[in-house]
Formats: sequence, C-alpha cells, structure tokens
Amino acid sequence: MPVTAAIGAQWGDEGKGKVVDRLAAEADIVVRFSGGNNAGHTVINERGKFALHLVPAGIFYPHVVNVVGNGVMVNPEALVEEIEGLEKAGIDVGKLVISPRAHLVMPWHILQDAAIERGRGENAIGTTGRGIGPACADRALRISLRMADLVDDERLEAGLRLNLQLKNPVVTGVWQAPAYELEPLYERYRALGRRLRPMVQEAYPLLRQAAADGKRILFEGAHGVMLDPDFGTYPYVTSTPPGVSGIAQGSGLGATDLDRVVGIVKAYTTRVGAGPLPTELHGQTAEDLREAGDEYGTTTGRPRRCGWFDAPVVRYAAQLNGFTELAITKLDVLDSLRTIRICTDYTIDGKDVAFPPGESQLLARCTPVYEEMAGWQSPISALSTYAALPPQAKAYLVRLEELVGVPINLVSVGPRREQMVWK
Ligand code: IMP
Repeated sequence: MPVTAAIGAQWGDEGKGKVVDRLAAEADIVVRFSGGNNAGHTVINERGKFALHLVPAGIFYPHVVNVVGNGVMVNPEALVEEIEGLEKAGIDVGKLVISPRAHLVMPWHILQDAAIERGRGENAIGTTGRGIGPACADRALRISLRMADLVDDERLEAGLRLNLQLKNPVVTGVWQAPAYELEPLYERYRALGRRLRPMVQEAYPLLRQAAADGKRILFEGAHGVMLDPDFGTYPYVTSTPPGVSGIAQGSGLGATDLDRVVGIVKAYTTRVGAGPLPTELHGQTAEDLREAGDEYGTTTGRPRRCGWFDAPVVRYAAQLNGFTELAITKLDVLDSLRTIRICTDYTIDGKDVAFPPGESQLLARCTPVYEEMAGWQSPISALSTYAALPPQAKAYLVRLEELVGVPINLVSVGPRREQMVWK
C-alpha cells in the first residue's frame, strides 16, 4: 500500500470503518486527520461490534500505530471514554499517538452548536450536536485550547481563564445557561490531561520519518466529500475537510506523499441531516433500503435518508480527490431489488449540469437522469470471490466504474470483516 488515503465519496457513512479495518491489516500506521467525534466508524470483528468516533480504526491490530492527527477536533472527555471502552473490551491502546497540535472541543462549543441550530429554526443543518463547528471557529479565532495545553497545568489554567472571560458573558446573557467556573473546570480537564498525557506526542516527525522509511501509512478519512465546507453542500456541511486536501493540513504529509487514494462508495446513497439529496427516495423503497442497510446514524442514531446511486456526486468526489480506485460497500443491501436505478447525470430546466453545483439551492433543483438495471435477487453475503457474484451484480459494478471513471478494487458484501471480495 505504501501511503494510502481512504476517503468517503458521498455524504459520510459509506462504511469507511469497515474498509479501513480491512486495509489496516497491511498498514504500519493509521492516521485520522480530520473530523471529530461527529464521525462514527463501525467496525465488526472477532472482538465484537465497535463504534469508533475519534480513535483510528487500525486500533484492533496490535502491530499498528494509530495517530490522532492535528486536524482532528478532540473532545478529551469523549476520547477518554472511547479509550476506556476499548480497554474494557481488551483492546490494547498502547500504540495510540495524539498530536499536541489537535484542538479541543469544549463544553461551550456544544452549547453554541445547539444555540445556532435553534436559531436557524427550520433551516437547521441537523448537526450531530458535538460542537465541531464552534470549535473550528475558535481555532480560526486563535482562542482555542489544544492538546498541548491540556497536558500542561499552567497553560491549561491560562487557556481556560481566557475562554471563560470571553465565553461566560455569552453563556449567561445569550444562551441563558449557568456561567462556567474556573476551578471545577480546571480540575476536570487537568484529570483528563493526566490520563491522555502519555499518548501526546508530536506526530509530524513520526509520519515524515515513516514515509521516508517506506512504512505503510493509511489515512482514514472521516465524513464524506459532499460534507466538505468548500466543495460540499454549504451550509449543510461539516467544518473540517473530509477529502485529501485535509491530509496535508491535518497531518503534515501532503498530496505528493500519497501513492493510492481509495474512494469509499456505498452502492446507493444516504445522508443524515438536512440539505439537498438529488436521488432521495421516499416511501416503501426508502424504508426497505433503510431497514436492509440498517441506515441509522452511528453517532446520533438518526434515520438516514436513502436514495439511488448518484454518479455525478461520486464522479465529482473522484476528480476532487484523485481516486485511484474505489471500494464499494453494502452491495448486499440491494440483494432483493427487482430493478435498481442509477443516476447518471443531472439536468436543471432541461439543461445538462456538468457536476454538482456549489449552491445548495441549485443542487436542490437538479433533476436526476436515471437508467435502470436488473437486480440479482439473490443473497450475496456468503460469497467469497468477485467471480462468484451474480452477473447482474457484476454488470451493476461495471456500470458504476464506467460512470465514475475509476476502477473498483474491493466490494463489501456484508458487515463482517471477512465479507469483502477483491476484484
Ligand atoms: P456537524 O459535523 O456535527 O457539524 O454536522 C454537520 C453536518 O454533517 C450534518 O448534516 C451531520 O449530519 C453531518 N455529519 C457530520 N458527521 C457525519 C458523519 O460522520 N456521517 C454522516 N454525516 C455526518
């Protein structure tokens, strides 16, 4: 693999956890570079079913060093809880490295996230409520605390003092919540700092050296390209870059270090939260897909909106990120369908649209152009080779490759680690 990126090509929830878990078997280092505990990566292996939010999905392999890069927005309470959950399940977290440059998500960010959503009323984004947007805003304002501050008592106190001075008037006056008190907050975060301190280590030189030594590095994307703050469906997006552009900023290795970029693509389309979704289905077919695919958010449990495969979106994601191959997930969810539709293109007022428009209002006006293919109507989850897939399933995959312009390498046919076939 040498240096590989695994990137969600739709609106998140493409099954990155499972693909990364599989690819991590051949990795020396797995790196999260973006997102926070708004992300949810499900991994099912012989140890059980795990929902990871901040810890990279390479954690189940004892040989893998797992890095929480500087681009990850870290809620230290959530991170400690996740680490302790893994430890309870007997997973060794001894090789977890957390960048001291990673910014912290604090309680007031969560309050602000909720307050902004309330203020937006019916235009609410449907955030995960984890405070990611406000934490990113404070990073830009240069007032946020970082991991390096959390593990240094003096800097922690100074950072908290500054933040309470700036935040408390808004907390009490605007959000009508009780003021934060320095002393208890300091004690609580100092304890978290003590817990995490052994894992805090500058990650950049470690990654740079690993790349120079030809080590196998896997970058684990969070969310999906259509949630990118610039290239997604703004304002219905997240606040950190989910694609390869986030790798340089969020880890220090850049585009020219990447040998392989795997676009992770669900065999159909889902989205949680508000915003346009051109191929969205309603009624029974949507219900059937949601149930068959267990399409409920890993982080919030919300039902996901479901739709047909949207080739313009995945083509766009492939171009933006330079996908060298695709991993198709959840193909088995389509097992029982008699016919399957694929959106090949969009039109607005009868005119072709070359790629998903940058304005959500325009994307909402796009009419999908569909073609229909025969379903395979047989269970594929027990199949262990690509050759054994029914001809209709192979025809579907070949059509996806043609429409996206990138070859498929891996196909997932069930939730378990071994339910994957290489093409
Ligand atoms: P936030 O990232 O919590 O601010 O939420 C912004 C938007 O991104 C909302 O529509 C969320 O539902 C969506 N979102 C954030 N993280 C994920 C994810 O991991 N999977 C799917 N959607 C996500």
